[in-house]
Amino acid sequence: MVPVVFQAYQDVSNTTCQRHNMEESNMQNKPVALVTGANQGIGLQIAKDLVAQGFTVLVGSRNLERGEAATKEVGPDARALQLDVTDGASIAAAAERVRKEFGRLDVLVNNAAISNTSKLPGQSIAEYAKLTRASNVSLDEVRAVWETNVFGVLAVTQAMLPLLREAPAARIVNVSSGVGSLTANSIRRSPIARSSALATLHPRPPSTR
Ligand SMILES: NC(=O)c1ccc[n+]([C@@H]2O[C@H](COP(=O)([O-])OP(=O)(O)OC[C@H]3O[C@@H](n4cnc5c(N)ncnc54)[C@H](OP(=O)(O)O)[C@@H]3O)[C@@H](O)[C@H]2O)c1
Repeated sequence: MVPVVFQAYQDVSNTTCQRHNMEESNMQNKPVALVTGANQGIGLQIAKDLVAQGFTVLVGSRNLERGEAATKEVGPDARALQLDVTDGASIAAAAERVRKEFGRLDVLVNNAAISNTSKLPGQSIAEYAKLTRASNVSLDEVRAVWETNVFGVLAVTQAMLPLLREAPAARIVNVSSGVGSLTANSIRRSPIARSSALATLHPRPPSTR
């Protein structure tokens, strides 16, 4: 998946450079990318890689100070952008800032996500997974995760679409997980399908029934 994504980045970079006549390396003419949840983890690495590919990168972070610290690590072509994907006002302000500063967005990377809100310090993933099967998980927990991972992605994408439509070859990249793959889950014998079934519906592993 990574090479495909980076090919897409490269395509956008090339097209944008052509359209904006990039001979003079004016930062305003560089393709612009926004990465949500880029203050740490995979998002931070994506931000670094995009800067290395010639992008100006908006480092989305729900905490501006953490975003600013990350931006220093990413490099001079990065700017911190306060963006909480569950907060409509924060999303609207972020879109407005992108519009004012750049007038367009070439790449949106929906990376911000959470896996839980209630895992206790010291609790193992296995212990937490036992408490969060579809059969017994609290609906508040499900709602909180969906608020970020599903509705947050939709809200940010909707807000950024007018800016993406101003770009010559815009791309939206949604970061996901193999565990969410419909293909992998549809293959009964795949380890992902087996672990999903165990994590959701079966009170006991199939081998013990
Ligand atoms: N790591 C893996 O093994 C793995 C595997 C499969 C898929 N993924 C996917 O890869 C992506 C990044 O994961 P990661 O491992 O890098 O996770 P991570 O280190 O926990 O980073 C998640 C990022 O999302 C941000 N975030 C959480 N809620 C947010 C909100 N409401 N608004 C804005 N930002 C928010 C976090 O901000 P704070 O720093 O403020 O918490 C953080 O910057 C996710 O989409 C995840 O599903 C990761």
